Amino acid sequence: MINFWQQRARDHKPFLVLAPMDGVTDYVFRELIADIAKPDVMFTEFTNTEALCSRGYEKTIPRFRYSAKQQPIVAHIWGTEPKNFFTVAKLAKDLGFDGIDINMGCPVRDVMKMGCGSALIKNPGLAAAMITAVKEGAPGLPVSVKTRLGVKSIVTDSWIRFLLLQHVDAITIHGRTAKELSKVPAHWDEIGIAVKLRDTLSPDTVIIGNGGIVRRDQAAVVHESYGVDGVMIGTGIFHNPWVFEKTPREHSKKEMLDLLLAHAKQYEECYPGEHRFAAMRKYFKIYVRSFSGATTLMKELMETKNFSEVEALIRPHLE
Ligand SMILES: Cc1cc2nc3c(=O)[nH]c(=O)nc-3n(C[C@H](O)[C@H](O)[C@H](O)COP(=O)(O)O)c2cc1C
Repeated sequence: MINFWQQRARDHKPFLVLAPMDGVTDYVFRELIADIAKPDVMFTEFTNTEALCSRGYEKTIPRFRYSAKQQPIVAHIWGTEPKNFFTVAKLAKDLGFDGIDINMGCPVRDVMKMGCGSALIKNPGLAAAMITAVKEGAPGLPVSVKTRLGVKSIVTDSWIRFLLLQHVDAITIHGRTAKELSKVPAHWDEIGIAVKLRDTLSPDTVIIGNGGIVRRDQAAVVHESYGVDGVMIGTGIFHNPWVFEKTPREHSKKEMLDLLLAHAKQYEECYPGEHRFAAMRKYFKIYVRSFSGATTLMKELMETKNFSEVEALIRPHLE
């Protein structure tokens, strides 16, 4: 039987994935995107396995909330202890996730200091133990890895080769090193090398390329040029929340502002309280730009404490 990654790779060439972005692609944002222009696959935010296996459980488990509308959705996890990966894999399976993805690409210093994220590129023994633990914890569920090309220098040939030899079901390759963060253009030629390695070492592994893609037509080009099965889009969603729409078109100021209102309303319903609403402010720039009065409106929105205040500012712009 083929897994959902392989099914996606057959159905759409390339298939498109919304990147996990901590603090951004939360439950509410995914609901919104699933409503307006849904990608072929979604990921949860970065969820810590140690937290889920300790007293941190209550605080962390909301990260695993999803709805049927968001499926297929993959539980995106990080941590240090393989035994906790086993436990969380079991949990993710019980919760009905479509797959489990292990983060081996995060470049954040504190995460790397713990030996997690991109640091795993230099610790293949631990990386393999995590993959095995997830496979054993959630038999039958596809296991994938999201990673980069290296830590300080590009090591595609050794690192991606190693991951392919673990026969994971999918690998998302962010075409930059951890050191490069997102500051340089992605090295798509290296992702192309990874695809060729896949063809010989593990033909059933699905490869998703990631880095700098902000439009559907660009995704088609990298599919053609480098042979990736899927393309992941992250920050492109900030430029256009409809980035996954099948027939791209311009969206009006009214559509943008209506979407902002829908987002703010759902945000308040999901995370009640003024303190939490403050985190909604980071999304405003997605919707408010390039129209007359946008700069002033942005400044005013940054002072808002709840949905009613946002609505009062937006309504006059919709008349
Ligand atoms: C705000 C933000 C948060 C991110 N959080 C995560 C994360 O939790 N896990 C992860 O694997 N990548 C994370 N990333 C990286 C993205 O998933 C993606 O790999 C990166 O943005 C490159 O894709 P892009 O050029 O399409 O934006 C994050 C990126 C941003 C901008």
